[in-house]
Parts: sequence; structure tokens; C-alpha cells
Amino acid sequence: MKTTPRTVQSFDSDWLFHLGDLPVRHAVKGGMTGGLTDCEQIAEGEWLKIAYFDEREQAALDERDWKTVNLPHDWCVEGNYVYDGDMVKHHKSHGYLPVGIGCYRKVFEIPAGDLGKKIIIEFDGVMRNSTVWVNGHLMGTHQSGYTGFCYDITDIARYGEEGQNVIFVKVDASDYEGWWYEGCGIYRHVWLIKTDRLHVGRHGTYVTTPVVREDEAQVNIKTTIYNEYAQTMSGILKTSIMDRTKQVVASFSNKITIEGDRDTEVEMVMALMAPNLWSPEQPYLYEVVTEIYDANENQIIDIYKTPLGVRALQFTADNGFYLNGKPYLIKGTCNHQDFAGVGVALPDQVTEYKIKLLKEMGCNAYRCAHHAPSPELLDLCDRLGMLVMDENRKLDISPDGIADLKEILYRDRNHPSIIMWSMENEEILEGTIMGSRMLDTLSRITHVIDPTRPTIACMNHGWNDGGYSNSVDITGYNYGQREDQYIHDHEQFPDRIMIGSESTSCTTTRGIYENDTVMGYCSSYGDQIPEWSCSHEKSWQDIVKHPHLTGIFVWTGFDYRGEPTPHQWPCIGSHFGIMDSCGFPKDAYFYYKAAWTDEPMVHVMPHWNWLDKVGQEINVWTYSNCETMELVLNGQSLGEQVVDRNSRMEWKVKYSPGELIAIGKTADKEIVRKVMVTAGHPSIITLKSDKITLNANDTDVAMVKVSIVDHAGIIVPTADNEILFTIEGPGKILGVGNGNPSSHEPDKATRRWAFNGHCLVIIQAAIGKGEIILRASSTSIESAAIVIEAI
Ligand code: GAL
Repeated sequence: MKTTPRTVQSFDSDWLFHLGDLPVRHAVKGGMTGGLTDCEQIAEGEWLKIAYFDEREQAALDERDWKTVNLPHDWCVEGNYVYDGDMVKHHKSHGYLPVGIGCYRKVFEIPAGDLGKKIIIEFDGVMRNSTVWVNGHLMGTHQSGYTGFCYDITDIARYGEEGQNVIFVKVDASDYEGWWYEGCGIYRHVWLIKTDRLHVGRHGTYVTTPVVREDEAQVNIKTTIYNEYAQTMSGILKTSIMDRTKQVVASFSNKITIEGDRDTEVEMVMALMAPNLWSPEQPYLYEVVTEIYDANENQIIDIYKTPLGVRALQFTADNGFYLNGKPYLIKGTCNHQDFAGVGVALPDQVTEYKIKLLKEMGCNAYRCAHHAPSPELLDLCDRLGMLVMDENRKLDISPDGIADLKEILYRDRNHPSIIMWSMENEEILEGTIMGSRMLDTLSRITHVIDPTRPTIACMNHGWNDGGYSNSVDITGYNYGQREDQYIHDHEQFPDRIMIGSESTSCTTTRGIYENDTVMGYCSSYGDQIPEWSCSHEKSWQDIVKHPHLTGIFVWTGFDYRGEPTPHQWPCIGSHFGIMDSCGFPKDAYFYYKAAWTDEPMVHVMPHWNWLDKVGQEINVWTYSNCETMELVLNGQSLGEQVVDRNSRMEWKVKYSPGELIAIGKTADKEIVRKVMVTAGHPSIITLKSDKITLNANDTDVAMVKVSIVDHAGIIVPTADNEILFTIEGPGKILGVGNGNPSSHEPDKATRRWAFNGHCLVIIQAAIGKGEIILRASSTSIESAAIVIEAI
């Protein structure tokens, strides 16, 4: 018998997409119990016993109704913003983009040589209810838009000459799961997985490090192996730990014998001498490579890889969190998954871009609000160094709810970045006896599947009622700063482990310094704060003063579609972000950069273009992490202030155009300066890409920042020119954005108005190699072009 080890192929390309449902004349049930192959033979309303033939699979395709798409795909972001008076509540929090039903179809081939293997189609996430048919067979439905699922198509696949295979996916996104923009469609990756019938199970390894010392770590590995042959199979299970340079640093072999159609779990313990520990600062990753060989070790049958980060987690009631034995302050942000230009269908490189931006700000933790993230986000957090609070969508003990929680736990429990499991967010039953029973059930399920991490509930009420807080290991305080709840509760319950699970919700719009209820903008001074929230300073200062609070998860790292609080239509996007929906920093970003990083910096706000305010007093705020800072206007010192890096410094400055310089000093010496110059008229477009080369693989993306500058190259902070984009060569414009929460312009477009000086274009490589040239032009200002090489 000749075998090839497992293959995991991307199943993302060449889908056909149809907006809207396709009619089915008869209810189609699963299974195949008769010989009928034609729906026409069944009378109207007659019980249909067979489902071999699904007319949607064979439906004559009217090309005009279908378009070719690659996954990930979000059709919601392709729509137009709609204000529907009756549905205002419904649409407001989701961003006023209509949802609905869509269908996907893909034709694929399975070679004859695959006969005998197990063939699985794995979906990482479809928003929302999906129903999948393969070759006319109903495979199943899946309700959650946030958990993955798979179908075994081994028996109903057509191999080689048997013909082509057709997969048909109906996606019904009419119902929401949350109160934010959730997108529609197959918005995460899909995989075609082929294994031998003797194979490692789905999510089939569990790697833990119960002992972590500098000289030695103990690594426990549990591996589940399935024998899907009828007969008993024997083999060798070889497990190796590889370091970052791919050297084997520990390995173990077990003989396995598994009866036909049975599975087994093999457990082993290995020692790692002088391990490299994992932390956000040094995210050292090992890899556990699990191999199954035949009994003579001649042939490899399966290979399965699991990330391994050696780190120790400890949460205390007095001092918060310890990472690898040392106190560690959690500097986190909560984030939804969407982004400008792409909705929720993020290419992996956009996810990477977001995580890198957060890290540059000094953020070391990411809360997946309010659901599990894509697998790639967790891979990136492992690799780049970002702690993660992985979150279950809701307090739900129904079979589906429990299945979703288990799916998250089994899928994610090997990621070293994950430090806690959130069971829920702000559920109405918090603080009730019924809620406590439900939470207890979820928490206990979690402890069985992963005893190594604590559970948390992210609560906004009921902390001290109904025993709710006792049902989890960590009590989360969403907006615990209100009436100093988390400080009083610590005095009353000194053994309670607490964290600032969500805070701030301060609303600001990038580049805006006055509240504007007509346009729906919030001033960057952050004085339009919802009643449950507080300033950035207040929520972080609480954490610094009270170590028992463990850390913070600021709501949010990035703006997102929906929740335009405190506004509504025509405002369609949130204002909570420290960065806007394109990742452009707001002023608050620099508050965190000062508080959270040691790289010397100064920041001044507002911009210095107030020609209608000459002679008037301007409220200037500065942020810095130096010892002192001096402000100089047009060569004249305005004085020096001692820096508190966790606070802003305020200056009253009589406006005159020119040059405002902030100088950061340590030991009386200038360390860093920021020069802000009054800009002239918009004159030139500039383009800056995060990459100069792209992989010519149909997926890689470059994030191109577009800025409008004056004749001297100074960014014009109020510029709002409309920019037109053209692209040549093997690439396309994947989407555009500008961070304006009230913009109704389409994200899938080749034009965008700049918003306060900037907009963003996302370029995606095609398959061919060569030069991709992006040109940007506008009326009456100088155009720009940038070349990105697809290699
Ligand atoms: C929280 C909630 C978030 C978001 C936020 C806005 O209460 O958990 O999802 O709605 O408020 O401030």
C-alpha cells in the first residue's frame, strides 16, 4: 500500500456567488433512500424521501446572476448603506448595511488516486446559518457564524472518471448574532483536507506545559488517532519537538495498534531542557510534529503540526497576572474583526497588519470581542507575541451553545497566546441564580477540556449577586470604573481575582476637534463620553494604581462598522477606536504609546491649521514618556512641564500659524521632538505602502496609505480631496477606506474622498508576477504612483 501523508489544500478560489436565495420546489431532506433522481417526478407537497438530486446543484446557471469570487468573501460590505426607519434599531448597531441570503457554488475535482482516503471540507467560519450540499447530498446546517465546522465527503465524492464534484452553500445571514457589524457569507477560509484512514483526529492534539522552569519544562502531549479502516491497524506514532531552527530537541515514539473503526488517545510526557520561554516580548515558538508511520517505519502515513509556546500563567487576587513568574500588566484592547475595504473577510495579511499596529502602540493583549476569532489571528498572536482572551459568543447551555463552546476550546487550546477563556459578555442573566447555574456549566465544561487556563465572565452588572462571580475563576469588570465598583468589590471580596475586562468606550473621530452632531463626529478631546464609559486616562490610571485589577481591555483598538454611539444615521461606524477603521492613529493612540512603551516619544494635539482662530486660545494637549517636555511656538518657549506618562499635559496657547514644537527631555537633555507646522493648501498626493513586494499568490495584500500634502510636503490635516485610483499589472484594488464614520462611499471601489488628510487602498496580488502600478489622482492636485513588485 502506497500512502501520502495528509494534504491541506486551500479551497478558497473560484467560487460562484449568487446574491439572494434560489427557489427549491420541494423540501430536501438528507440521505438517499430511493432511486429517484429527478425532482419533477415528485408531486407538489409530497414527502421527498431522497435528496440525491438537489436542483440547486444542477440548476442551469444564468451567468448574469452569478459572479466569481475568492474567499474570504463578505457580500454585506459590497452593499449600499440604507436607512430604514422601521428597522432603525436593528440596522444602527450593525452599520446600516443590509443582510440577507446568498448562495455559493464551486465545482472541483478529486483525482481517482484519492479513492480510499478520507476527504474532509473544513469551514473556518460562515456568517451565518449555512446549509451545505455536496453532489446533491445535504451535508448539514451550521448556525453559528463564529465557529468552524466540517463535512466528511469521502463517500459521496466523485473520484476521477466518476465526474466533477459540486458543492453548494446556502448562507442565510438574515439574523444577527451580535450588536455590531458581522458581515455575510463565507468570510473565513475553507480547506480541503485529505488524510489516510489512519490519521490524527480533527483538533487531535493537546499540548500543555504543566512545569515551566528556566532549566527545564515538562511538555505533556495527548494525541487522538483514528483508525477508519475496517481492520486493526498497527503503526508507530513519532512525536518530535522542533525548535525555531527546525532542530529536533525532544522526541518520543510509541507503537500503536488500533482496532478497526476505533480511536485511541496516546499520552506522553517530554522534557525540554533550558527552554526558550514564550512572552509577547519574545514570542519563541516550538513546534510539535506528530507523525504516524507504518509498523516497519517505512512509510509515513500522517503528519500533524501543533504550535508550542512554553510559558507559565498565574492570576492572583492581590497582584494581578504573572507571566513566567513575573508580574505582568495586561495592556489590552477589545476588537471586532472588520476592517476598512474588506468588511469581515480579512486576508491574513490584513489581520497581521492590525496586530502589528496594536503591538507598535504597546498593546500586549487582544480580547476577541465577542466571539472566537479566525485561526489565523491566533497563529499571528502566537507568532508576533500578543496575549489573547478568547471569547465564547454567549451564555448558552443549549446543545448548539455547548457544541460551539467545545469547538472553540478544542480548536484553540494549543495556542500559547491564549491566557483565558471568556464564557460570555454582558449577559442579561448576570447576577441571577439561573445565570449562575448556566455559567457554572460552561465553566466546568471548559475546565475539563482545558484545565490549564482560567475562565472569566465579562460582566457589566451583578458582580455580587446570585453567586454569579463564583462560577468562573476571574471576575471581569466591564466599565468597573463606574462608582469605583472594582475597587470597593476588592475590599469586600479580597480573594476575588479581577480584571478590567472592558473599559473606556471614549468616542473620538480622527482629526476632529469639535463635536459635530450634523456630521456625526466626536471631538478628539473625548468630551462626548457615553454614561457607562470614561476617559482613556481614567481607565488606565485605575489599573496603574490598583494592581489587583490585573490589566485593561480598552474598548476598542480599532473603529468598526455599526454602533455609531453617540450618533446615528447618517453616522454608520463606531468612534470607540484608538485607531480608526483603516488603522490610522487618533490622538488617543499616542496617550497609550506614551503610557505603554518606553521608546521616547512626544505628541501634540490638535493640528496647527486654525487660520480662523488667530489670536484665540487653543487647548493644546501633549503626551510623552520622557521626564519633562517643553513646548515652543514659532521659536518662543511656552514653558516646560514635568511629564506624567499616564496623563496628558495641558497648555493654553494663543494661536498663531507657524511651527509648534514639542520637545521631550530626560535629564534636561532633548531626547525627541515633534514638529507641527501649519500646512498650506492641498497640493500633492503621496502614497506609502507597507510592502514593496507581494507574493504573486492571489492572496497577499499591501496596505497603501494615501496622504494629501502641501507644496512643502506637510500633511494637510483637513484635506478631503477625492482620489481616483487606477491599477496596472498583476494585482487589483481589494478595497478602500478613509476612517470617516459617516462616509457612505462604497469600500469596493476605485475612488475615495480623503478624510482629514488620509485614505487607504488595499492592493491584492493576482497570480502573475510583475510590476503592480497604483496611480492616484485628483482634480487640481499633483498625482502619485507607486510600484509594488509581485514576485
Ligand atoms: C459594551 C459592550 C460592547 C460595546 C460597548 C460600547 O457594553 O460590551 O460590545 O457595545 O459597550 O461602549
